[in-house]
Amino acid sequence: MLRTHTCGELTIKNAGEKVTLCGWIQRSRDLGGMTFIDLRDRYGITQLAFNMDGNAALCEKARTLGREFVLQTSGTVIERSNKNPKMPTGDIEILVENIIVLNESKLPPFTIEDNSDGGEELRMKYRYLDLRRTVVKKNLELRHKLSAETRNYLNSQNFIEVETPYLIKSTPEGARDFVVPSRMNQGEFYALPQSPQTFKQLLMIAGYDRYYQLVRCFRDEDLRADRQPEFTQIDCEMSFITQEDILNTFEGLAKHLFTTVINYPVKEFPRISYADAMKLYGSDKPDIRFGMKFVELNTVVKGKNFKVFDDAELVVGICAEGCGEYSRKQLDELTEFVKRPQIGANGLVYVKYNSDGTLKSSVDKFYNEEELKKWAEAFNAKPGDLLLVLAGKEEKTRKALCELRLEIGNRLGFRKSNVFAPLWVIDFPLLEWDEETNRFYAKHHPFTSPKPEDIPMLDTNPVDVRANAYDLVINGVEIGGGSIRIYDKELQKKMFKTLGFTDELAQSQFGYLMNAFEYGAPPHGGIAFGVDRWCAVFGGSESIRDFIAFPKNNAGRDVMADAPSVLSQQQLDELNLILKQKA
Ligand code: AMO
Repeated sequence: MLRTHTCGELTIKNAGEKVTLCGWIQRSRDLGGMTFIDLRDRYGITQLAFNMDGNAALCEKARTLGREFVLQTSGTVIERSNKNPKMPTGDIEILVENIIVLNESKLPPFTIEDNSDGGEELRMKYRYLDLRRTVVKKNLELRHKLSAETRNYLNSQNFIEVETPYLIKSTPEGARDFVVPSRMNQGEFYALPQSPQTFKQLLMIAGYDRYYQLVRCFRDEDLRADRQPEFTQIDCEMSFITQEDILNTFEGLAKHLFTTVINYPVKEFPRISYADAMKLYGSDKPDIRFGMKFVELNTVVKGKNFKVFDDAELVVGICAEGCGEYSRKQLDELTEFVKRPQIGANGLVYVKYNSDGTLKSSVDKFYNEEELKKWAEAFNAKPGDLLLVLAGKEEKTRKALCELRLEIGNRLGFRKSNVFAPLWVIDFPLLEWDEETNRFYAKHHPFTSPKPEDIPMLDTNPVDVRANAYDLVINGVEIGGGSIRIYDKELQKKMFKTLGFTDELAQSQFGYLMNAFEYGAPPHGGIAFGVDRWCAVFGGSESIRDFIAFPKNNAGRDVMADAPSVLSQQQLDELNLILKQKA
């Protein structure tokens, strides 16, 4: 070893010891008689001291060394006169006797500090330098802990980790596939898996009744803060179970991770149906760190000649507790907020419940105080509160109010990143109608089982059929989702038919799975969690990029390696690919 200790472990207990450390120069300070260097490695920072009176030549040498030079240094641990209680090594410094420059460094393009002066794009281009920063390192450590504890827990529950292939058959369901041309089978393509869904079901048929895999998945979809083209799942499947067993087993995993990774024990997770989540929060991933549930007002507000409300499919609002004193400017801000194109409301109606008990609204022309009192009663509001009401088409209005609720939650400080509120959302609809293609799509995926009691509705009103499907949500983020699967060949056929697949199409795309169902498929079900999202929520960040060592930017590019990139003509020829000429 080139070192006796790391830069994070020496304390006053080591005073007097001769040590050798290796690391990078975080910064140096030249104080005339003394020069100090902060030496950094993965474990921390240790101060090196050079004394002009002691060893002038060494001190002169230290002054010539630049930021991020790699050093090996030997010396004696001594107690500092000027201690730094914020650092674990802050009581000591190394009185240096020897330094060897293991490597020089160009001046880094940004400061390697928690608050770096480098913008995101620059830091991504030099990600290996960005990764030297403590904040980023802490995120990767959290990720490591989450993965390790996931394995610990699932191994202890008799799960077996099995790897499934990355070069698989392309299917058009779900998101877009990333595809890989096959040189040996010209004109044919593999796809990278969007998830190992079909393989884990085949493993159940094969009898591996508790499977998991920490697995990379690939989806060619529009990117957002919580979406990367490649991301990691904790993918799980079990046989001979009910939905209740799955929820209990994986609530166990979640509780284990809450305790071991962030030391935040949580009690039983509440469960809410999809229908209620939409009705009360306008979202299938409600943030329940705070209440502020939706209150529907159709029966209270209609019939008073206010056309906006009279014509609306839904009038619905929230009560912002203690916001009755909001100024004109604040109310205008909220109105502007809901009118933003991404939110799409036409306007916002408010009622201020003044502290003296009087009520003042933006629709005073249509509603007198007595009528507004009825609104307030519907909300269970009290003096000092503010009622915010939206109206319009049902789905759009709920979505807009959901955004407004979250915004008010932010303004009132209800969405603290160190408070966690997990829940299960259950009973998702089986199908989703798509106006554009004029057909049903599986809300989860085509192998999800309908609730047995709803199966007859597949022929009459398919939109109302509920699935045995569930999501784990934490702080308004969908962390995981899964379902009980169809294991009956006839029901699977019926499902494909409902999705508009001919028998031939179903056979050509999923034939291998359908055939396997003929060889004794056990009842089974499972779930997959997004590792990147789980880390981001635990780490209190909105962006999953912070928890991925080498992420892509929003355009799906690796700006460091500059991928994707063009292929040489020789590579294209080998693959027999002809590119269309750009106009
Ligand atoms: P689903 O598609 O819901 O289910 O994905 C499971 C979880 O994976 C995470 N996730 C993502 N994370 C980052 N970037 C993305 N682009 C991305 N897409 C999804 C989310 C999500 O909840 N095979 C099924 C699971 C099953 O039924 O067992 C599946 O993949 O956290």
